[in-house]
Amino acid sequence: MTTVETDVLVVGSGPAGATAAALLSSQGIPTIMLNRYGSVANSPRAHITNQRTMEVLRDLGLEDQAKAWAMDQEMMGTTVWASSLTGMEFGRLRGWYTHPEWKGQHDLASATAICDLPQDRLEPILVSAAGLRGTTQLLKTELLTFTQDADGVTAQVRDRVTGHTYEIRAKYLIGADGGRSAVVEQLGLPLEGEMGEGGNINVVFEADLSHLLAHRPADMIWMIQPGTGHGGLGLGVLRMIQPYKRFMATWGYDPAEGTPELTDELGTRIAHQLIGDDTVPVTIESVSLWSVNHMNVTDNMSGRVFVAGDAAHRHTPMHGLGSNTSVQDSFNLAWKLAHVLKGLAGPGLLETYRAERVPVARKLVGRVHRTFGVVPPMFRALRLPPTADRDAYDAALAAIQVPTKENAAQRRELADAVLGTLPIFHTHGMEMNQIYDSTAVVTDGLPAPRPEKDPEFWYFPSTFPGHHLIHIWLTRDQRKVPLIDLVGKGRFTVLTGPSGAADWTSAAALVQDKLGLEVTVHTIGLGAEYQDTYGTFGRHAGIAEDGALLVRPDHMVGWRAQDSTHASRLVDVLRQILDR
Ligand code: FDA
Repeated sequence: MTTVETDVLVVGSGPAGATAAALLSSQGIPTIMLNRYGSVANSPRAHITNQRTMEVLRDLGLEDQAKAWAMDQEMMGTTVWASSLTGMEFGRLRGWYTHPEWKGQHDLASATAICDLPQDRLEPILVSAAGLRGTTQLLKTELLTFTQDADGVTAQVRDRVTGHTYEIRAKYLIGADGGRSAVVEQLGLPLEGEMGEGGNINVVFEADLSHLLAHRPADMIWMIQPGTGHGGLGLGVLRMIQPYKRFMATWGYDPAEGTPELTDELGTRIAHQLIGDDTVPVTIESVSLWSVNHMNVTDNMSGRVFVAGDAAHRHTPMHGLGSNTSVQDSFNLAWKLAHVLKGLAGPGLLETYRAERVPVARKLVGRVHRTFGVVPPMFRALRLPPTADRDAYDAALAAIQVPTKENAAQRRELADAVLGTLPIFHTHGMEMNQIYDSTAVVTDGLPAPRPEKDPEFWYFPSTFPGHHLIHIWLTRDQRKVPLIDLVGKGRFTVLTGPSGAADWTSAAALVQDKLGLEVTVHTIGLGAEYQDTYGTFGRHAGIAEDGALLVRPDHMVGWRAQDSTHASRLVDVLRQILDR
């Protein structure tokens, strides 16, 4: 049998797989990526692309490309709750941090911004970058089975064009093969949660809806209609993919009542129902089904095989964190694999993928599940009957609008219920507070900071080891440069002030000498390479001017030294992080 050799075999070219391949190839690691289909995602699927994902794309040099294809934050922001596009508005929210109060916190957290980038536009960017940087991409090629031994993984794959079956021998395998992961199944990785809790119909269509949306631009309109609350997501959602002409309608169904027949007629009916006007011409692009899952692995690796993305965490699009977390899994894993494969780290570094990402998966799936609880108060406030009866529904909507003093409390209750759904569109903490506690993080002996606000919703910046590097604007030659541009790109970086430059540069030279690892040292402050023009690095770095932040390739603080008397410890700290 033919055997093809590589360092890393990535199964799947979705957001998780394509990110891993692009990062590994950027580091010169021989990589093969399989996709059982002949193309990238064939529908818009995920779209919310959060700041942390944009940071990963920026690290890969792909942020501008992503922005060029995305709908920007301001266009996303008017989240409307309504009976239909033409019907009664129950209320609006400023979602995705567009409210001035939250916009400030969003902008202070990162040099990047959240945007709406449909998955069928994100994937081509990543897949093409991976290919251009060296990944061998095998389309219409599927993983059948694999075995592993002390030195590597042998995968049986099948070319679906010729039917030819052959072997790929890799040092490591990443199962980024989605929510029905064969890799998870074959490894027997433990899962917790439930699959198939409900069903949804997705309808992608084209229609000119500018007259209904241009005055309230939103990437999502949430509809409560007769029959909602019945199976599936329980709501109708209209998503704007391309203003104001390409959309996706999502409508729940009860799988216990059978699988709906997916016809253009059904798609048109759902689209018209959410628009609230049967006369609007719609052209159906696709009608498909997806099921509601709440499940995560409790272990994401076994030996030389890792799982990333939906393979490791499956949940509804509530919060829009699925593809984002998939990208971020790979950002955590890729630099670790690259360091081990280059002989710069021991295998223990790979174990930290488990310690760092399993808690993220568990927290994510739990959060999404709990967030469903913010929707029922809307149904209650509208006093909707538990049936799909149109007359009873119309009567309920008419009743709340009767201008009596008795109804005032109900109207207040509805306004509160609308505001109560904010968590769906506000998960800054979930994306930016992925705090790591593992052997790849060395604490400085100080107590960990405690967040003042709920860390699932609010980002709390800190340079405590294990946190995401804080965002600060510096200048160089009078031009603004964000701190994040000094770190990442597969390298470890030391950030220090002018009086720390000499000691930390010597410490980095010692690391090069002892460990063969190149650590970049950047100096920030008056008269230094980068100027702390706004004084924010000095104020928020949590160290003396001659102290240092050691930043891992994934922008996470790996260690913090209060002053340069600790510089001699850099070699030992990196020995621990890298398992040397
Ligand atoms: P993904 O499923 O994308 O990719 C799996 C890959 O593995 C594919 O390339 C497939 O061909 C390949 N594959 C599978 N088995 C294979 C085999 N045996 N051999 C070879 N290849 C194999 N997320 C989000 O962040 N924001 C959002 O707004 C939304 N919205 C949203 C809406 C809707 C309607 C859906 C259905 C989903 C979302 N999501 C989302 C979720 C998002 O789509 C999902 O989290 C990502 O696609 C997961 O990316 P992965 O790369 O893990 O798997």
